[in-house]
Amino acid sequence: MAQRLPVLYNKKPCYDIVYARSFDGLAEEMQELGVSEKRLCIITDSTVDTLYGESVLKLLESNCVKAVKYVFPAGEANKTLDTVKEAYKVLIEEGFDRKDMLIALGGGVVGDLTGYVAATYLRGIDFVQIPTTLLSQVDSSIGGKTGVDFDGYKNMVGAFKMPRLVYMNMKVLETLEERQYFSGFAEVMKSALIKDAAFYEWLIENMYEICEKDMDILEEMVMRCTGIKKLVVEKDPTEQGDRALLNLGHTIGHAIEKAKNFELYHGECVALGTIAAAYISWKREMLSMEEYYEVRDMFVPFYLPITVDDIDPQEILKLTKSDKKMKAGQIRFILLKKIGKAVIDSTVTDEEILAAINEIYFSDEDAHA
Ligand code: GLY
Repeated sequence: MAQRLPVLYNKKPCYDIVYARSFDGLAEEMQELGVSEKRLCIITDSTVDTLYGESVLKLLESNCVKAVKYVFPAGEANKTLDTVKEAYKVLIEEGFDRKDMLIALGGGVVGDLTGYVAATYLRGIDFVQIPTTLLSQVDSSIGGKTGVDFDGYKNMVGAFKMPRLVYMNMKVLETLEERQYFSGFAEVMKSALIKDAAFYEWLIENMYEICEKDMDILEEMVMRCTGIKKLVVEKDPTEQGDRALLNLGHTIGHAIEKAKNFELYHGECVALGTIAAAYISWKREMLSMEEYYEVRDMFVPFYLPITVDDIDPQEILKLTKSDKKMKAGQIRFILLKKIGKAVIDSTVTDEEILAAINEIYFSDEDAHA
């Protein structure tokens, strides 16, 4: 029997997260949402389509009015309004109306983009998240943030739109490309660092099993992360306050992602951004030197970068200013008061940010030293 976790929105039950080890229970979950009366459109990317597109379509098509699939080329470069426009065209051609439903089958790009289509098509239709990457299971599929990139700026256009269901099949993690898998681990570390010191210790203890994708350990890890995320988004669904804590590592991370033209994965940039934030926390004497180096080195066994080359630190600093995490022109930086407790801080100076960027920057001089 699959485990489930209900998520509230405005203190009322809104959707369940279902933790399963196959897609077998999906049709029944969808029945509960009344799909026998609905058209369904599975939105997925070319990579996930090859793996699961047809099997998920088959599972669902006999139980609904009509099921169609819209597949776009995989990659962050396609998380744009152009792809959204193509999706609208399919929905219009297939006669989708407001009572029909979308299904996001894929990772963070698919989930964010499908959610945005769902938030805007006919002023909003229902959607379901079927996250197929570690990153989307532990973070992006939960909490209703949807959107696309604009002119290379991450998630610059978007909306809050809660899914009707988040169905996780843990087994998909087994087929996940290694780099994608480890990229997701950066968001796992983030969850532990901001809210749960015991979970951070658990990650250290279970490092080997996590790298080896032990199913029981993975399930526990995903459940603990989603438990943290649930508590945060239930308290502050539209990021008026504490939800911003989930952005640990994202201000500098997003800047690196853009500067590197999306050649590094999101989680890889979050790892770098988290190290930079931990560095500032150490310099402010919130973390000890030992804690800073431990946090930094925790990314190494997971093949996540702890330095980045070929960047211009001044450009990264400039790009941090165009990230969305600003209030009244001031960056809302997330720092670590201690392991397991993050804080929002609007007083971080350009000098501190630059020093942190230089800490993770592997320059030509380092190479020749
Ligand atoms: N990924 C951060 C959030 O959902 O708020």
